[in-house]
Amino acid sequence: MNPDVRLKRSPFFYVGDKFKLIAEIRKHFPEKINTFVEPFLGGGSVFLNVDAKHYVLNDIDENVIALHKFLTSQASKEKALVTRIKDLVEQYNLSCSVFENVVPIELKKKWPKTYYAEFNRKGYGLLKSDYNTSKKKDLLVLFLLLIYGFNRMLRFNRKGEFNIPVGNVDFNQNVLKALQDYFVTAREKEVSFSAQDFKKFLTSQKFSKNDFVYVDPPYLISASEYNKLWNEELDGELMQILDRLNDKGIRFALSNISAYNGRKNEKLISWMKKYNVYPIKSNYISYHNNTKKEITEVLITNY
Ligand SMILES: C[S@@+](CC[C@H](N)C(=O)[O-])C[C@H]1O[C@@H](n2cnc3c(N)ncnc32)[C@H](O)[C@@H]1O
Repeated sequence: MNPDVRLKRSPFFYVGDKFKLIAEIRKHFPEKINTFVEPFLGGGSVFLNVDAKHYVLNDIDENVIALHKFLTSQASKEKALVTRIKDLVEQYNLSCSVFENVVPIELKKKWPKTYYAEFNRKGYGLLKSDYNTSKKKDLLVLFLLLIYGFNRMLRFNRKGEFNIPVGNVDFNQNVLKALQDYFVTAREKEVSFSAQDFKKFLTSQKFSKNDFVYVDPPYLISASEYNKLWNEELDGELMQILDRLNDKGIRFALSNISAYNGRKNEKLISWMKKYNVYPIKSNYISYHNNTKKEITEVLITNY
């Protein structure tokens, strides 16, 4: 990887994404990758910053994958999409510093720290209820709900309704740039997506020699929204599948944490001994209380 190439931020601004660590992590990636395979895609910060011929990408979260597919489908219609965003932002009166729909100074004085949330609350509420009651779901609306939502998360209740409250955020230049960068990758690269459990996904892949699997699962001993989907059994199954890839000569790299705030992932610590382990300087912020945690983040490779 050329270290001088500017890093791309994913337009998902995914909680726990690898954006801040990707420069360090990809130093350990292979030089030549034919197909880049990612079973735990999340927002896609990694594939966006890795050179490969093809990308085969997967996440169990169907909504995340639906948004990736939607954004990819818009890559050749960038201008029309930006116009639609502008129209929606105006229609719902959402703050948008790129299109000059800015928060009035009086509101900034009254709510110096939360003026975006104050300004957007009403429009966001309307956008959300229109989305939840619509028969045909507009994925651009879902994308805007993500962008203006709290912690930029996608979460649905049992009835399937999107239920994230407004965030204290804006559609700013960074969001537009991230979208434009995503479109460049989607136009230039051959990318395919699926929404499967990692076991099904990895065991059904037809690998060839220069393929490379990057694995960034939920971390067993840390706390984040998608960790609800994870447990010791799945952690163990993932290690077994990686061993099988190793037996077949397929290269992989696994991100994980071996210790977190006094807790240790003993099974991982013992498993990783047979591979190469690189410490990664982590700046992980707790999703629960924004405090920095004592953690040991590692990248484990078999090549
Ligand atoms: C640590 S995040 C990946 C973040 C990603 N590297 C990024 O930079 O945005 C882990 C992801 O695994 C997904 N996931 C959780 N359980 C899964 C499973 N059983 N199979 C596939 N994906 C799963 C979650 O939906 C989440 O997006």
